[in-house]
Amino acid sequence: MYRHKKFLIGLSLAGFVFFGIAATTPPDEPKPKNLKILPKDISHEDLIKVMHGFNDALGVHCNFCHAKSKDPNEKGLDFASDEKPEKNIARKMMKMTAKINKKYFSFEKDDKGERKDMISCGICHHGNSHPEFKAPPHEEHQGPPPPPPANN
Ligand code: HEC
Ligand code: HEC
Repeated sequence: MYRHKKFLIGLSLAGFVFFGIAATTPPDEPKPKNLKILPKDISHEDLIKVMHGFNDALGVHCNFCHAKSKDPNEKGLDFASDEKPEKNIARKMMKMTAKINKKYFSFEKDDKGERKDMISCGICHHGNSHPEFKAPPHEEHQGPPPPPPANN
């Protein structure tokens, strides 16, 4: 399991750090078919943790990056599909985030002397899919403060 440690830590996804990743997938979980950045034998549990981290960091749901299934018998999302451009942008962002941590934050170490990830998706995104300020569709976090009461 140590094989993946550096790699996963390097990804620094949504602010949680991965120590000791168990590379086991229970037989009932479908194996991921199209991983290009994450380790191919990542456990289902860890994969889903990473994905929930994306949801939180960007303030989106899974369907922001994952296309609807084309199979008429399948109502859900086709997670392996790369049809939605957001998914590939997310891959670029994963690489960028890992690179920033590795290259520019190498001085950050935790108690065990392991490199610590300081940069995560959420550091820039803050719950917005598009960090540049312009009213995003899921605006809650962004409105101006309410005006003070009129009669004072
Ligand atoms: C910000 C974009 C984004 C969001 C949001 C997101 N994902 Fe993903 N997901 C990805 C990317 C990118 C990959 C491929 C990673 C790679 O290539 O290593 C992926 C891969 C997967 C896979 C593996 C598919 C396969 O067979 O290769 C599953 C399963 C998955 N996501 C489930 C989810 C679930 C469930 C959610 C919501 C809780 C979710 N994702 C939210 C970007 C996202
Ligand atoms: C250094 C800051 C930074 C970090 C870290 C970062 N992003 Fe981004 N991200 C941006 C900016 C800026 C944009 C908007 C780019 C543009 O305008 O084209 C963006 C855009 C995106 C988009 C496209 C959104 C859209 O509206 O189409 C996705 C998806 C995304 N980021 C996912 C991620 C994920 C997942 C991570 C963590 C692995 C991450 N980002 C980490 C700055 C960052």
